[in-house]
Amino acid sequence: MSEEIRRQKNFWDAEQEAFDSIYSRKKSGFQNFLDSVFRKDMYERYEFTMKHSEPIKGRSFLDVGCGTARYSVEYAKRGAARVVGLDISDSMIDTSKKHAASSGVADICEFLKVELFQYKPEKKFDVSIGIGLFDYVSEPLPLIKSMAALTSDRVILTFPRLFTWRAPVRKIRLGLRKCDVYFFTRKQIHNLMKDAGFARVEIEKVGKLFCVVGHVGKA
Ligand SMILES: C[S@@+](CC[C@H](N)C(=O)[O-])C[C@H]1O[C@@H](n2cnc3c(N)ncnc32)[C@H](O)[C@@H]1O
Repeated sequence: MSEEIRRQKNFWDAEQEAFDSIYSRKKSGFQNFLDSVFRKDMYERYEFTMKHSEPIKGRSFLDVGCGTARYSVEYAKRGAARVVGLDISDSMIDTSKKHAASSGVADICEFLKVELFQYKPEKKFDVSIGIGLFDYVSEPLPLIKSMAALTSDRVILTFPRLFTWRAPVRKIRLGLRKCDVYFFTRKQIHNLMKDAGFARVEIEKVGKLFCVVGHVGKA
């Protein structure tokens, strides 16, 4: 395990409950209010991803950096045929399994504690997603290329934007907790997606993020 992955794993093992409370809203009214103002784009990226994942029914999904499986479980609930979630954090994977079981979709979903490079599925997925993942990856290109190689239709990714007031705040706040965080310009994302070999790429500004769809195959 690289030093970067070890640090990320330690951070997210400890952060799992606090992270999921952004979705579950199991926190005080004031904290929920702060989330709805300062983390609005987390809810917006969810809507973006679900919209661009259509059709969901009957298709297969790979969720890289699945966290607490909020996306994976939703795909399964909306009729996906197969969903695989990967994460490097034990507590995220444990929570994902519980979440799928309590939502009645454990038979559709599989959650694995594994790095993407070690994962060798027999079949490609229709759609792969990496949501809130590239914030924490120092070298995104190999990961994006691996996702493209495992996907037959499209890859949906999010990247935090560089030129926002929030970027330096997050850099300092997370850096103090030994969690490195990275930010991107539209040009950088365009070049990454081009180098990863996508036939067509859509890049949309969503709050302090870029939400990106990379189409595999024909343009
Ligand atoms: C901000 S959370 C996002 C979780 C989920 N995608 C969501 O949006 O709800 C980031 C997740 O990425 C995972 N992660 C970080 N680096 C990773 C890597 N190189 N490979 C796989 N997962 C990684 C973390 O363990 C964490 O669960």
